[in-house]
Amino acid sequence: QQPPDLLTVMATSIVDDTPVSGTLLLLLLLCILLITTLCLANASHIPGPFFWAGLGPILSYSRFIWSGIGTACNYYNKRYGSMVRVWINGEETLILSKSSAVYHVLKSAHYIARFASKQGLQCIGMDGRGIIFNSDIPLWKKVRTYFAKALTGPGLQRTVGICVSATDRHLERLQEMTDPTGHVDVLNLLRCIVVDISNKLFLRVPLNEACNFHHRYTSTMTDEMRKRNPENHIVGFLIYLFELQDVMESLIETKRRIISESETLDDDLDFTSELIFAQNHGELSADDVRQCVLEMVIAAPDTLSISLFFMLMLLKQNPEMEIRIVEEISTLIGEKDVMTVDFQNFRVLESFINESMRFHPVVDFTMRKALEDDVIDGTKISKGTNIILNIGLMHKTEFFPKPNEFSLENFDKTVPSRFFQPFGCGPRSCVGKHIAMMMMKAVLVTLLSRYSVCPRHGNTLSSIRQTNNLSQQPVEDEQSLAMRFIPRQMTTT
Ligand code: HEM
Repeated sequence: QQPPDLLTVMATSIVDDTPVSGTLLLLLLLCILLITTLCLANASHIPGPFFWAGLGPILSYSRFIWSGIGTACNYYNKRYGSMVRVWINGEETLILSKSSAVYHVLKSAHYIARFASKQGLQCIGMDGRGIIFNSDIPLWKKVRTYFAKALTGPGLQRTVGICVSATDRHLERLQEMTDPTGHVDVLNLLRCIVVDISNKLFLRVPLNEACNFHHRYTSTMTDEMRKRNPENHIVGFLIYLFELQDVMESLIETKRRIISESETLDDDLDFTSELIFAQNHGELSADDVRQCVLEMVIAAPDTLSISLFFMLMLLKQNPEMEIRIVEEISTLIGEKDVMTVDFQNFRVLESFINESMRFHPVVDFTMRKALEDDVIDGTKISKGTNIILNIGLMHKTEFFPKPNEFSLENFDKTVPSRFFQPFGCGPRSCVGKHIAMMMMKAVLVTLLSRYSVCPRHGNTLSSIRQTNNLSQQPVEDEQSLAMRFIPRQMTTT
């Protein structure tokens, strides 16, 4: 006897109203749904969660919202492999963590735009403005030349002196920042130092007198976000950025006044002056200028101060590394004026910084949009595809001898650039990567030659609370950020 076919069973079920046949019908419908969704999910040939009649995209988007972008990317790559298809805000999005695929995207001119919600960007004034999320490619190219000019050449040479003196100046006032138990909120201290450096390099306006930017920016970021949106810190952060625009507006006004009152112009114009002149010549709008200055001034405090915070934590967890770094500082600087020292020679320090950015990065992913059809590692990619590059995971899966350990051995051999990309590479890479390395070295050398910095007893990088939304950050509670500064006696060799 032939088994009844599907349609016969369905037809019989529809006319038969017993509870058993009702359940059978339900089961059959579910089977059909499952087969359809399996077919849909397999249509792209890229592994990832099932479509499930629209439930998959909702679940995948919810995971991004609730666990944070970085954590969600790691989850999907670990579950489905190094090329995964998910949905963000209903749009198909690929997450790549294999170095060959990541490197291909980074280097290619087909991926020079980022993706983000247009509406969201419009709300915070970043749509088609500034540099970071600007997808107006001709305008982005124009503003990027101003960023590149300020962050390389003479700008880079001035950096060491500015970093050393800013760090020294804030260390002189350490007492004011120390609580009755002898601890300092070290992230706050680092933010003060880095905001000071950014201002001296790119804006040159007396911050405290001009407005409360300094105070607002250096008050704890999470508090600021929480105040603005207790449920969703990303939304809170974006509102916070939006509010900073008013502050930036008044700083740029101050800058215009300073320029118009000064009798002579500096030989090396700072970034803000260059942009103001570009606006005067009709090359940029006032909105472009404000957004570019805002992004330049917050780029370093957002990334560098947290990177340095992670580094100070890692240093105390690895005392033998601290000894090697302090010895190197002592050997290279000794009695010399720090300004005469070539910072390229700090090899151990450089490996330590690289290993910290590999092992516990602040920025562990970046995003791109395909502007042309393409093929990545044999997989067809259509124009318009959204892509997340999971560089944090890429740094832990390939090439490195001890990928899951914090070890300078990982940088004993020269690491080919396709395996290590903390700043990205290619046309849309971090335009501040050279200055960032210089700044981190200069701040660490100044800090570590004067103090041994000890986290509160029992605090380690894995024990403190952290979030991974737009970037990896410590949750800013008093306990996690507190460190003691013990004066160090440097020996000279
Ligand atoms: C973009 C990392 C410091 C300015 C980026 C990107 C990464 C990154 C991964 C995206 C690159 C890509 O998509 O390929 C870092 C890290 C830093 C750091 C880890 C410090 C530890 C800085 C500093 C500045 C800066 C100090 C400037 C003062 C920028 C800008 C972009 C960018 C303007 C956007 C470039 C564009 O879209 O054209 N950064 N960065 N960054 N970074 Fe950095």
